[in-house]
Amino acid sequence: MRLSLFDADGGKEALAPGATVLRGFARKRDIALLAAIEDVAARAPFRHMVTPGGFQMSVAMTNCGAAGWITDRSGYRYQAHDPQSGLPWPALSPAFLSLADEAATAAGFANFVPDACLINRYEPGTKLSLHQDKDEADYDHPIVSVSLGLPATFQFGGQKRADPVRKVALEHGDVVVWGGPSRLFHHGVLTLKSGEHPLTGRRRFNLTLRKAL
Ligand code: SIN
Ligand code: FE2
Repeated sequence: MRLSLFDADGGKEALAPGATVLRGFARKRDIALLAAIEDVAARAPFRHMVTPGGFQMSVAMTNCGAAGWITDRSGYRYQAHDPQSGLPWPALSPAFLSLADEAATAAGFANFVPDACLINRYEPGTKLSLHQDKDEADYDHPIVSVSLGLPATFQFGGQKRADPVRKVALEHGDVVVWGGPSRLFHHGVLTLKSGEHPLTGRRRFNLTLRKAL
């Protein structure tokens, strides 16, 4: 069991070549991060997007940054405007930018400046199937993925979809960084279990910070 009072920054775990779990890395700034999420959602509300195949995603999403990740019947892509409002996505919060750079640096990737932040909202019963993050212009930059709220089981596989998958329990404040040799590794989130988090209630949020353009 992890002692929540004492592991605000609980160390690093290697997940794969180029992939690291930073335990508790974001915990001390959780209030500011959640406030920034609320701010984004007030201007670009969470919505359930549709895959090119016509399935509605169970995870609700929104974005901030110069580019926002979207999916609809015409495909997966980044777009400067929220298709729902026609407005530019809200700017990347300084709290997200500094966390992204610090986490990337701690994982061995210096000078990471993201221009896109996908915000996922999970409720019990929702999941994200195994996928690769590959809609970015190039793969030279790492991915910084921040967990807030309810715990989840993260799956981290390999370059091929059929590669063996490691299961990692992610808790509030944990940050996963992957890049270099594992930049295109498959990953996903198993169906969220029911629960109640003191700061987020029956929800888990994930920030995925990327350099997309
Ligand atoms: C993602 O891959 O987009 C999100 C991963 C997570 O929620 O931990
Ligand atoms: Fe992803």
